[in-house]
Amino acid sequence: MSGTPVVKAVNLVKVYQTGGLPVPAVRGVDLTVRAGEFVAITGPSGSGKSTLIHMLGGLDTRTSGEIWLDGKRADTLSESGWALLRRRKVGFVFQFFNLVANMTVADNVELPALLGGASPRQARERREYLLGELGLADRAGAAPARLSGGEQQRVALARALANQPTLLLADEPTGNLDSRNTRDVLRLLGRVHGQGQTIVLVTHDARAASMADRVVSLLDGQIVDDGAIGSARRRPGGTAGDVVELRG
Ligand SMILES: Nc1ncnc2c1ncn2[C@@H]1O[C@H](COP(=O)(O)OP(=O)(O)OP(=O)(O)O)[C@@H](O)[C@H]1O
Ligand SMILES: [Mg+2]
Repeated sequence: MSGTPVVKAVNLVKVYQTGGLPVPAVRGVDLTVRAGEFVAITGPSGSGKSTLIHMLGGLDTRTSGEIWLDGKRADTLSESGWALLRRRKVGFVFQFFNLVANMTVADNVELPALLGGASPRQARERREYLLGELGLADRAGAAPARLSGGEQQRVALARALANQPTLLLADEPTGNLDSRNTRDVLRLLGRVHGQGQTIVLVTHDARAASMADRVVSLLDGQIVDDGAIGSARRRPGGTAGDVVELRG
C-alpha cells in the first residue's frame, strides 16, 4: 500500500514514573499504519498495548520518540492542540468505556459528530445507523449507568465512529461482550473497514485479530512480530469467520 501513513510512531518510548520507580511500558516502538489498513495489536496483559494506543491518540504523553498523524508531527502538540486534532481525526474506544454519565446514550454518540461539525440531522442519522447496527436502537434514551458493561462498550464504539474519524483506535472493544455481541461489533468493524476506515484494534480475541490485515504482537513494550495476514483485502461486509493465514 502507498500514500501518507495515517499514523506513524518512530522509536516511541513511554516510561511511567511511579513513586520514583521508573516503569518502562513502551520501549522503542516503530509502527506505520496506512490509509484503509486494519491493524490488530495483541500481547499479554501489561505488554504496553493500552499505553501505545493512548499515545497514538494523544491521550497520554510520550517520554521520547515521534508520533505523526495524517502526515503532521503530533507529539509536539500542546494538550489543546491534540484535543483539536483528535476531534477532527481520531475516534477512540477506551478499554473502560468513559461514557459521559449524565448524558443519554444518544447524546453520547452524537456529541463527537456535533463537535466535529456535523449538522444535528447528520449527527442523528449517523447515531441511528450505528446504534441500529449494534443492536442498541432501543437504548438511545437511557443513561449509561442503566446499561450493562457490554452495552456500554458498544455505545463507546458507536461514539468513536460517530465522526467518521480518519483513524479509529479501539482498546479491547469486545473485551466485555458475549459471542453474539462480539459478532455485532466485529461485523460493524468489518463493514466500516470495507468502507475505507483505518483501524488500530487492541484485542485478545482471535476472531477479532483474524479480521485485521496485519497483526502486531507486543511483548514487554516492544514489537516482537508484525505480520501481514493472507487474503488481506476483504469485501465490504466480509464476515469475521473468514479463514486466514498468518505470514511471517
Ligand atoms: N498510569 C500508569 N502508571 C504507572 N504504570 C502504568 C500506568 N499505566 C500502565 N502502567 C504500566 O505499564 C505497563 C503497560 O501497561 P498497559 O496498560 O499499557 O498494558 P496492556 O498491554 O494494555 O495490558 P492489558 O491487556 O491488561 O490491558 C504495565 O506494567 C503497567 O503496570
Ligand atoms: Mg490495556
